[in-house]
Amino acid sequence: MKKQRIAILGAGPSGLAQLRAFEAAAQTGAELPEIVCYEKQSDLGGMWNYTWRTGLDAHGEPVHGSMYRYLWSNGPKECLEFADYSFEEHFGKPIASYPPRAVLRDYIMGRVEKSDLRHCIRFNTAVQWVSYDEATEKFSVTVRDVKADALSTEEFDYVVVATGHFSTPNTPYFEGLEHFPGRVLHAHDFRDACEFAGKDLLLVGSSYSAEDIGTQCHKYGASSVTFSYRSAPMGYAWPEAFQEVPLLTRLDDRTAHFADGSQREVDAIILCTGYQHHFPFLPDDLTLRTRNRLYPENLYKGVFWIANPKLIYLGMQDQYYTFNMFDAQAWYARDVILGRIALPDAQAMAADAAAWVQREEAARTPCQHIDFQAAYIRDLVGPTDYPEFDIEGMGQLFKEWKRDKQADILGYRNKSYRSTLTGTVAPPHHTPWMEAIDDSLDAFLADGPAQPSAAPDKATAPGLSQHRPLHQPLNVALHKAPHKPAHQQRKAA
Ligand SMILES: Cc1cc2nc3c(=O)[nH]c(=O)nc-3n(C[C@H](O)[C@H](O)[C@H](O)COP(=O)(O)OP(=O)(O)OC[C@H]3O[C@@H](n4cnc5c(N)ncnc54)[C@H](O)[C@@H]3O)c2cc1C
Ligand SMILES: NC(=O)c1ccc[n+]([C@@H]2O[C@H](COP(=O)([O-])OP(=O)(O)OC[C@H]3O[C@@H](n4cnc5c(N)ncnc54)[C@H](OP(=O)(O)O)[C@@H]3O)[C@@H](O)[C@H]2O)c1
Repeated sequence: MKKQRIAILGAGPSGLAQLRAFEAAAQTGAELPEIVCYEKQSDLGGMWNYTWRTGLDAHGEPVHGSMYRYLWSNGPKECLEFADYSFEEHFGKPIASYPPRAVLRDYIMGRVEKSDLRHCIRFNTAVQWVSYDEATEKFSVTVRDVKADALSTEEFDYVVVATGHFSTPNTPYFEGLEHFPGRVLHAHDFRDACEFAGKDLLLVGSSYSAEDIGTQCHKYGASSVTFSYRSAPMGYAWPEAFQEVPLLTRLDDRTAHFADGSQREVDAIILCTGYQHHFPFLPDDLTLRTRNRLYPENLYKGVFWIANPKLIYLGMQDQYYTFNMFDAQAWYARDVILGRIALPDAQAMAADAAAWVQREEAARTPCQHIDFQAAYIRDLVGPTDYPEFDIEGMGQLFKEWKRDKQADILGYRNKSYRSTLTGTVAPPHHTPWMEAIDDSLDAFLADGPAQPSAAPDKATAPGLSQHRPLHQPLNVALHKAPHKPAHQQRKAA
């Protein structure tokens, strides 16, 4: 019999989870289908690849990246640990609970390099169109080799959509924006907080991007940060430089007017108004349309497109759990593809999904949302051989994280948590987050803060002043000799 062919669209954490799931099956003797993973970027890692670019990339494709310089994990790493690859295994030592982006990327890469999954990935290949032929029961996937600018089409039995959903900005209009004399940008295009040093900022939105970009701009020297919320304020005990106001109603030159009648002069506006699920390569009848929620509709087990379950969506949920949730989804999808798990009929799938949607809608508080996502992952992991991990224990860590944020929004990243995999309590980071200016992997993994080579100027040395003049480039040279992460050492050995 001819081998089945599987297309995985995207080589971010979700697409990589799917590749890893198949490889894990191969290691226990399963015969694998033929797998092709299409990735439009030149490397894997998805959102975790930092790019300075905004708008279109070098080949005219929309830039995927929404991450920015100096981004640190906004949740404890103990909550996103892969069940089959701990942070301690990767780095060869315990590390602090809130790593910066480069450290998390290194961890993601480590599992891939260990597993040798790269050969399945066609880089620089953007998916342009997917169609399904009822007669042949095959998908046609048309891709563009962005370097050669050449189109080609191949047939597949299954398509796994793992293209992420935090890349296409949701950009509302506010009256007067077109006449605003300063910078207006969406969080997707935000790259460097130093640009806003000394500025009065207005951030529209009251979720993770607003909170993180706002606190980061403060850390890097913004004069003030005003958050404008639509539904509810974030409600943290904000220091003086911050304020939360109701929704922006209009702009009159530099003056922003808000729904409570208040007004404020601002220098720049960042729309932290979320993202759209956007699949321009899919026809109407295969397209997932949803807001950012914990259980998007029309997906059985949160992954199978009920109208045609050979189309699989990974990672389309709003996310407390991330990497290990993508794994749980990928292991389940793999087992369906390999015939180890049988899908029920469409009616039963729809009823099951509807029950989960109803359960999500009944959940009101963050703690209930965390419990909901934990229960969802538990439901996925049960029938597969994904290594057992303490999903509920991680849920408790998420709740602790919520409390820690509530207690100290600028200091919660200084906290440490216990890994549910290794039992190790993370060591504190050598530098409090507000003073940790260098976000490089080397600086993070170093045993202590960088020692200035000469007596520092009190006003400009990182760690000595909360508000150094940050239009100056960060002084990376202050740091110690580079530390080689464990997996690189292994490779070099
Ligand atoms: C600003 C920001 C900060 C975040 N911080 C955290 C954090 O601290 N901790 C955490 O756990 N999560 C965080 N997340 C969530 C993050 O999205 C997930 O961790 C994870 O990256 C999602 O993985 P994914 O593979 O589903 O999607 P992505 O990482 O977005 O990867 C999708 C991949 O698909 C590719 N792709 C897209 N379209 C095409 C196409 N047409 N053809 C070919 N390839 C395509 C992209 O290039 C990309 O490589 C953050 C998200 C954002 C936006
Ligand atoms: N350091 C980090 O790790 C970090 C940093 C940033 C982002 N992230 C991640 O990125 C993901 C996306 O977060 P996000 O905050 O960008 O998106 P989000 O969580 O979906 O939140 C979107 C926000 O935009 C608001 N909004 C939407 N439309 C609006 C409108 N027309 N007018 C006013 N407000 C509007 C929403 O308000 P309502 O509440 O009224 O709907 C909500 O506050 C999350 O998974 C997050 O964890 C992580």
